[in-house]
Amino acid sequence: CGIVGYVGKRDSQDILIDGLKKLEYRGYDSAGIAVHTANGLEVKKAKGRLAVLESQLSGDPLRGTIGIGHTRWATHGKPSDVNSHPHTDNSQKFSVVHNGIIENYIALKEELIAQGVQFVSETDTEVISHLIASLYEGDIVKAVQKAVKRMSGAFALGVLTEYEPDKLVAVRLASPLIIGVGQDENFIGSDIPAILEHTRNVYILNDGEMAALTQDGVELMTIEGNFISREMFHVDWDIVTAEKAGFDHFMLKEIHEQPKAYRDTMGSRISQTGDRVELKEVGMSAEQIRGIRNVHIVACGTAFHAGLIGKSVIEKLARIPVEIDVASEYRYRSPIITSDTLAIVVSQSGETADTLAALREAKRCGARVVAITNVVGSSVAREADDVIVTWAGPEIAVASTKAYTSQLIAFYLFGLHLAQTLGTMEAAEIAQTIAALQALPEQVEAILQEKDAIKRIAEDIAGHDNLFFIGRGLDYAVAMEGSLKLKEISYIHSEAYAAGELKHGTLALIEEGIPVIALATQDALFEKTVSNIKEVKARGAHVLGLANEGDHELEKAVDEVFAIPRTLPLLTPALSVIPLQLLAYYASLARGNDVDKPRNLAKSVTVE
Ligand code: G6P
Repeated sequence: CGIVGYVGKRDSQDILIDGLKKLEYRGYDSAGIAVHTANGLEVKKAKGRLAVLESQLSGDPLRGTIGIGHTRWATHGKPSDVNSHPHTDNSQKFSVVHNGIIENYIALKEELIAQGVQFVSETDTEVISHLIASLYEGDIVKAVQKAVKRMSGAFALGVLTEYEPDKLVAVRLASPLIIGVGQDENFIGSDIPAILEHTRNVYILNDGEMAALTQDGVELMTIEGNFISREMFHVDWDIVTAEKAGFDHFMLKEIHEQPKAYRDTMGSRISQTGDRVELKEVGMSAEQIRGIRNVHIVACGTAFHAGLIGKSVIEKLARIPVEIDVASEYRYRSPIITSDTLAIVVSQSGETADTLAALREAKRCGARVVAITNVVGSSVAREADDVIVTWAGPEIAVASTKAYTSQLIAFYLFGLHLAQTLGTMEAAEIAQTIAALQALPEQVEAILQEKDAIKRIAEDIAGHDNLFFIGRGLDYAVAMEGSLKLKEISYIHSEAYAAGELKHGTLALIEEGIPVIALATQDALFEKTVSNIKEVKARGAHVLGLANEGDHELEKAVDEVFAIPRTLPLLTPALSVIPLQLLAYYASLARGNDVDKPRNLAKSVTVE
């Protein structure tokens, strides 16, 4: 979900709507705003995209200079008008927008019902507005503090009351929230882009902190009520970087930004002489690195798939055993974490609740935590011991592309960094790997030149309901990412399978004409993969092979081949995933889907 709020001298409605547009990628099941108008606190909300709310407001605007807004990704209660935020109390004097989950809302709801409160929605958020109203004794800040003490869970709030029409209260408990500071106006937002048009000066709230905003100033305090002072953070991003730059969709733009993202992520992290990695942001001493006994990689979704490659990279280059888990499993399976464990959390947004919880669990058990994230100042970045930022720039499309490949680059750099310290690689091998890394951006450009070939294949695939991706080793990990990308945006059911495992059951699903995308870029496994391709061919599959340039062997075994430029086997994922991203993009387009905003998904999932 996304939250925005404004207090100042200007009409708030357009500022709120514009802010919500920037946050729509966080969820778009419904949207709403509450504004202090001449008639008191008025709310308008609607199920569906923000455009639905906008059209309602265009005929009947809410005029006033203080307001809050919300765009929702449903957790408790289906997407509907009544479940949309803001929520109000029975007297309609309090209004709340909320991001996150109130875990004890059922108990609170029963208690409030016993007091005579009437609930209109199925949401956990509505509890908050009633609770604040019931605790209000003339001071909204105090009422919010009391209410927050009664609530458990992870959430961010924006609160207004008609009784104090000049004040906006914001709270952060785990879910992200920032305060924007302007001239005679102040803002809240769950993300910086929401307010960037108006100010570049922000306070980032920490867990357990809150703020009271008026047009004249911002008071920061803990939820216990102790005032705090905080240095202002100046944002120097360019707002145009978050625009589509002439592409039809953010996803296509972001796919094309990958050569730049690779270069930026490598940036100054490679020595002038090109023979060493210099990861200054990793503060571990050589002794600490030598003390690492095992590595745990934890992430969700696409970031998890980057972690699968990361596991191979670290094991191969640094010879340290690596375990990998999806974050939602990791924290509940009592992983064996010691002070010799290095945990690596990977998160584009740095705000994924599951990943953050895994990070905290690893820290609690004494592990050192390295974060690979795309968002400076994100929760993951702030809580990890060391942060390797992927300089991919803002990623807007829900389906992650450039963030994933930048995470791969970060893993290559980190693997080399460990290897340099541990002496697990020869100097020549390090230099050779670095040279191959530096060649990747141009090789990606070469693949992008061939996008029409992929488009044709995608248009064929778009007519099918099921397909398979197969591969061995690193190809299998890339197959998983290719399959996820396709599912996310084309809604075609696909499965990624380890090519050698198919015959142990899933081969039963192969029938005449089913598309199989076979990755065969790993020289050492090539023959074996070709055998598996023959198994599916013999059952009538239509096979698209993905191979290295010059591998004419594969052409004989498959129906079509797409070739990628040659690089070191360990680096191929940074190239082989590009055609799969394009395949998903064009298949989604051919099916007439909303590429950048796939159904049921959100860019950043800040609930467990
Ligand atoms: C959401 C997104 C996925 C993403 C995952 C992890 O589910 O839809 O695309 O891979 O979260 O996000 P993160 O920001 O932690 O990388």
